[in-house]
Amino acid sequence: MNSRKPVTLHRLREMHAAGEKIAMLTCYDAAFARVLDRAGVDALLVGDSLGMVLQGRDTTLAVSMDDMAYHTRCVARGNRTAWVIADMPFGSYQESAELAWRNAARLMQEGAHMVKLEGGGWTAPVVRFLVERGIPVCAHLGFTPQSVHRLGGYRVQGRDAAQSELLNSQAHELADAGAALLVIEMVPSTMASALADTLPIPVIGIGAGSGCGGQVLVLHDMLGLSSGQPLKFVRDFLNGAAGIDAAVRRYVTDVKSTAFPDNAVHGF
Ligand code: KIV
Repeated sequence: MNSRKPVTLHRLREMHAAGEKIAMLTCYDAAFARVLDRAGVDALLVGDSLGMVLQGRDTTLAVSMDDMAYHTRCVARGNRTAWVIADMPFGSYQESAELAWRNAARLMQEGAHMVKLEGGGWTAPVVRFLVERGIPVCAHLGFTPQSVHRLGGYRVQGRDAAQSELLNSQAHELADAGAALLVIEMVPSTMASALADTLPIPVIGIGAGSGCGGQVLVLHDMLGLSSGQPLKFVRDFLNGAAGIDAAVRRYVTDVKSTAFPDNAVHGF
């Protein structure tokens, strides 16, 4: 029985203000939404990583709005109290703020509480447009999978001073535009923790070290189901656990206590 009150944006802000870490996992269907919600995961991300994890593709680029709408609907049906974030897929927000609005509104109507979009600079006016019209937005900087070909593959971002300064100024610009959360992916832990200390909104890290205001992992990675060699910063929480429920509970506990991630194995 899940006695938790629904997690709201207000609650996420309270957690951030109190220094409580936010535990987020990707989720793509109703069955896992039930398990993750019951285990106390604060936020479920219907990530476009489903293109790789569920559909077996090499990148997220072919994921469609129909795919995202379907999986958002499934997660919303299984979830009771967690905050649900749906990814805007490649091509659904780049052309204009109006196109972004139409597609974001569709995901909200399927049961998302917030949408996430990738990139900085040009995205700030799009974020403002959505937020002013009532849609909470999560920004995503660092390694942004929809730009994998422009970035030259799955590479750490923000390593040099110029890159790090650019990411920092883009993050502040997105927060000024009204983004309420920021996911930062595959950046040096020192850079991420300096950003998390100065940004007024929670910074959720993936491959960004333990200094962030919360963590997100791809569900199948943290259950040891990823194809190929897992990235260094991923931990298999099912290894040694009594089952999926216990593995997810361990993830939540370890994020909250900062036992995960371990900067010593982070590697950058
Ligand atoms: O799509 C996704 O799963 C994501 C996470 C990697 C943050 O964007």
